[in-house]
Amino acid sequence: MKIAVDGPAGAGKSTISKILAKKLGINYLDTGAMYRAATYKTIKESIDPENEEAVVKAVENSDIYFKDNEIYLDGENVKIQIRSPQVNRLVSVISKIDEIRKIMVAKQKKISESSDVIMDGRDIGTVVMPDADYKFYLDASIEIRAKRRFEEMDDKSAMMSFESLKKEIAKRDEEDKNRKTGPLKVAEDAVVIDTSGLEIDQVVELMAKKIKGE
Ligand code: DC
Repeated sequence: MKIAVDGPAGAGKSTISKILAKKLGINYLDTGAMYRAATYKTIKESIDPENEEAVVKAVENSDIYFKDNEIYLDGENVKIQIRSPQVNRLVSVISKIDEIRKIMVAKQKKISESSDVIMDGRDIGTVVMPDADYKFYLDASIEIRAKRRFEEMDDKSAMMSFESLKKEIAKRDEEDKNRKTGPLKVAEDAVVIDTSGLEIDQVVELMAKKIKGE
């Protein structure tokens, strides 16, 4: 079974997809983590993000993979590093490079061919798994999405204010929606769920019902 989950940052995609994957006994793949790992690589190697050729070369020469559902870059577990404010700021710039998308999409397609999977991202239902059995698009108001991300932060004072976080998420949404290749958009056959007023379990239940055909 293949399930595609797309939507903007903070809509609840990863939390919900993880629970649903467990419930259904299938794998979960966080494609955002792959773009984040590629971004972290460029930061680590001090590559100018505007120098697309250099970025592509660095990513081509790196090993990005999942082990026990955690993300690795060149043998190092980078699950903490990929959530840094620096990566948050840069990831849209790196993920809009055509060649980077080609590399990531090819990896993701390969994974989807080898196992039953629920994948979350921005272009899963439209590009990576256009033939998915079920497609969902999760959305929520910018206010709610920013609030969720703000509450996830460990050390709020050291990170940023709620207002600047909201601005950053809105900017990332715009960049994700307006890029030329694989933009964030609702797949024609996706079920759209506004998670704004819903608890996590309620969204999972809605999706599970849809999958069971209820
Ligand atoms: O899901 P996330 O917030 O961790 O994703 C981080 C960024 O990666 C997001 O701003 C856009 C990019 N991304 C993408 O372009 N395509 C995907 N399938 C997943 C993420």
